[in-house]
Amino acid sequence: MKQITTISELRRELQLIRQEGKSIGLVPTMGYLHAGHLSLVEAAREACDAVVMSIFVNPLQFGPNEDFERYPRDLARDSKLAESAGVDFLFTPSVEEMYPQPILTKVSVGQVSEPLCGRNRPGHFDGVATVVSKLFHIVWPDKAFFGQKDAQQLAVIEQMVFDLSMPITVVGCPIVREADGLALSSRNVYLNEAERSQATVLYRSLQAAQQMLRGGETSVAAVRDLVIEMINDQPLAEIDYVEVVNYPSMSPVEEFRPGQQICIAVAVRFGRTRLIDNVITAI
Ligand code: PAJ
Repeated sequence: MKQITTISELRRELQLIRQEGKSIGLVPTMGYLHAGHLSLVEAAREACDAVVMSIFVNPLQFGPNEDFERYPRDLARDSKLAESAGVDFLFTPSVEEMYPQPILTKVSVGQVSEPLCGRNRPGHFDGVATVVSKLFHIVWPDKAFFGQKDAQQLAVIEQMVFDLSMPITVVGCPIVREADGLALSSRNVYLNEAERSQATVLYRSLQAAQQMLRGGETSVAAVRDLVIEMINDQPLAEIDYVEVVNYPSMSPVEEFRPGQQICIAVAVRFGRTRLIDNVITAI
């Protein structure tokens, strides 16, 4: 594995790969790697000849009162994990390398970005779309791999790639969970013991909702209320949102209709830690 910190060197290396006729897969991350990130590398290895992983904690996607400064970072550990997972090029640029001057260009994806996390984290998806677009321009991968853990992010990237005719296939990969159902996240390390144990309610409530849908429930409000009720039963949980939306448009679901693809998405705070989770299910 080669670890590379500059855009020009990465471009030079990937030029050689391309000249050999090899395909390139990109796995963008913010590091503090866990098995969820590594599952994306595995998917990339299966689909592409060479795998690039980026680790960059992107200041553009954090709000002024969010956790940019304290976001967990451990490059030495990440580098070992990435290498043993089979990453060929680990791109770890500094903020100065990515944004040598204040960036004036913004990629903003309408509608899909607006509800859910877009409403709770103004500017977040502009920051994500901008940095992912920049990474795409640096790497020009054949395929790029994203987790369904961040379902709205995946929908935003797919929309961006479609709208801007980027010659890149976006591949969505399933959510990797702990044995008790909690979705893996770099932010899970923030949780204390009590919060960690109550956080399992996210997936439990989503499963209960899915069960209700499969049982033929017709009321969107009833499904949403069940999730809200279960989460509110946990004293340390504070709901940011619980939404039932169409996937991938992220538009609100007014009523259930056969053939619909539904995403039930939640964002919940435990102390200072904000967790998200979702299930996507066809009716
Ligand atoms: P980060 O939170 O590090 O996540 C990197 C990728 O890993 C994302 O595609 C995310 O959906 C995926 N991922 C995280 N947890 C997962 C899990 N439990 N199972 C499966 N996949 C999981 O998302 C970002 O970084 C950033 O917004 C980024 C796209 C890199 C842009 O800065």
